Amino acid sequence: MYKLTIGEKTYYCQPGESVLDTFLRENVNISFACKKGTCHSCIVRSPNILPPESAQVGLKNTLKKLNHFLACLCHPEQNMVIKLPDQSEFYTEGTVVVNQLLNRNTLLLIIAFKDAFEFNAGQFVNLQRPDGLTRSYSIANIPQASNTLEFHIRRLPDGRFSEWLHDEIKTGDTIAVSEARGHCFYLPERKEQGLVLVGTGTGLAPLAGILTDALGHGHSGPIYLFHGSREVDDLYRVDEMRKLAEQHQNFYYIPCLSGKHVPEGFTHGRVNEIALATLVDLKDWRVFLCGHPEMVNQMKKMTFLKGASMKDIYADAFLITAT
Ligand SMILES: Cc1cc2nc3c(=O)[nH]c(=O)nc-3n(C[C@H](O)[C@H](O)[C@H](O)COP(=O)(O)OP(=O)(O)OC[C@H]3O[C@@H](n4cnc5c(N)ncnc54)[C@H](O)[C@@H]3O)c2cc1C
Ligand code: FES
Repeated sequence: MYKLTIGEKTYYCQPGESVLDTFLRENVNISFACKKGTCHSCIVRSPNILPPESAQVGLKNTLKKLNHFLACLCHPEQNMVIKLPDQSEFYTEGTVVVNQLLNRNTLLLIIAFKDAFEFNAGQFVNLQRPDGLTRSYSIANIPQASNTLEFHIRRLPDGRFSEWLHDEIKTGDTIAVSEARGHCFYLPERKEQGLVLVGTGTGLAPLAGILTDALGHGHSGPIYLFHGSREVDDLYRVDEMRKLAEQHQNFYYIPCLSGKHVPEGFTHGRVNEIALATLVDLKDWRVFLCGHPEMVNQMKKMTFLKGASMKDIYADAFLITAT
């Protein structure tokens, strides 16, 4: 058991616990979202002790040099003095310029910045509430659009962050936004390669960015977008996608509904099953999977088994934080 000291206070990290686990058990006010080393919102610093290398995976070298590390990945190997960073160091302030519904439970949120915001279409950022509550959301637009980021936020019943965004945030409000992260984005190479994009619900957000980017770069290979939900009222941007499919001969849009009521023009079934039945051989295809973690994990395996190379499979599972 190692001692973790923050200022005057000392906490004891139990065997098997991460630094984040200890802090949450002790009600230390620390920001976190994924608990898996993805979102980087739990970044802290140990001024005098080199943190374990495994707790610095994915951090920039400049942060590593200053002994920053991710509390959720850190299983201490000695006693540590820990500084919780000033969060403003990692966040930029943006202003909400659009908040309107895309369907009955999905909010379109557009945040504008004074300066250009660096990102690749399909990456995600952390949004932070003034009380420190942090969640990850995927970017739905492409960088060239303007100094704005677009998000699609699904309202989760009793979801603390999503309900706050749906019910309380107004245009003109400011919100803290982290740097863009994640590896699920389009690279303009091998433009003749087939692309398959599969998403559930707001998984369309990163896929819409990736699609716009690929079409904008003149991707010439076939591009299939499978977007799934249960009811037709939970899909969105259907007309826009149909129009894009009319404009681009190599783009195919397949909206899928798993519920009983399936209007004309929609495909009945689970999005993953329909995608796999449509595209039998995925050798040399690039695959993008976003949304429900179960769908994403299953499709990673299945697309690999259908011939896609692991290095060509990009995925963002929308993990829900459990507290
Ligand atoms: C990389 C990434 C990208 C993402 N992109 C998007 C995106 O583009 N759009 C999007 O909408 N979401 C996205 N998400 C999901 C998002 O980060 C949030 O997890 C989601 O909005 C829910 O947050 P919340 O605070 O509203 O819900 P939470 O408060 O975290 O609650 C989640 C659910 O758990 C239930 N719950 C909470 N606490 C308990 C408890 N103690 N016991 C039982 N049940 C409980 C709640 O009722 C709720 O239904 C993404 C996630 C990741 C990791
Ligand atoms: S990286 Fe630690 S909570 Fe996400």
